[in-house]
Amino acid sequence: MESAKLTELYETAKSWVFEAGEVIKRSFSDELNITYKSHAADLVTDMDKGIEQFFIDKIKNKYPDHEILGEEGYGDKVKNLDGTVWIIDPIDGTTNFVHQQLNFAISVGVFHDGEEKLAFIYDVVRNELFHCKAGEGLYLNEEKLPRLEDTTLDKSVIGLNATWITPNPKIDHQLLLPLVRKSRGTRSYGTAAIELAYVACGRLDAYVTLRLSPWDFAAGYILIKEAGGIISDVNGNAVNVLDKTSIFAAKPSLHQEILGLISPGTSANGQ
Ligand code: IPD
Ligand code: CA
Ligand code: CA
Ligand code: CA
Repeated sequence: MESAKLTELYETAKSWVFEAGEVIKRSFSDELNITYKSHAADLVTDMDKGIEQFFIDKIKNKYPDHEILGEEGYGDKVKNLDGTVWIIDPIDGTTNFVHQQLNFAISVGVFHDGEEKLAFIYDVVRNELFHCKAGEGLYLNEEKLPRLEDTTLDKSVIGLNATWITPNPKIDHQLLLPLVRKSRGTRSYGTAAIELAYVACGRLDAYVTLRLSPWDFAAGYILIKEAGGIISDVNGNAVNVLDKTSIFAAKPSLHQEILGLISPGTSANGQ
């Protein structure tokens, strides 16, 4: 995609993200229509659906040949990253949105012919937009952020949900215990998008989770790479952004150090 076209797409996408954020802010005084999806902890609101539809209407109207993968299913059945593909989570952190009206984000990642191009993670309430145009660095609002530097586990704060250190079918949970014991602390924000944005900007040193969907991590994946971090699955394998997967993002040397603990015998090739 030529540079002028990408810049136009970036500015347009950014304006839609802000516009969607305004819609969400205005909704705070309205009563939410909340329903369950697969189970009682899997909430969805009319705002999740409305914001996804908002993006789809905007994108299809201006860029009819672009494809969209969204959590609420109003987009396309995206099978590959040919052409321009948007991966959208209209509200990441719906439980927080419902319970706290805080700690949730709009997450938008854009790929073109398989390459990461644009990413936006917008913490609507804090008015923090983490964003990038690939190759031009990571920004928090107007401020360009420094690239991530190496660190060690004993000086790190790790994003980790307590679920994953209880017995579960995905990993020997004992392997994750050193992250709790050897780090400076663990945090769980309940929004994968913000947790990945926090790794990208250095507020967290790493983030580990055993189950995410493409819309949860696509924009964060782009931001982490742009910031100079490493993002892979928990075995250190490269991530396919169209698949459900575990996600492990960290500062470069920390990625190696943690991988040696949680996935002994594997070597990092995620990038
Ligand atoms: C959820 C959040 C949460 C993660 C869940 C996701 P949603 O997304 O990202 O942090 O642990 O796996 O489903 O449903 O609030 O968009
Ligand atoms: Ca959801
Ligand atoms: Ca999500
Ligand atoms: Ca969501």
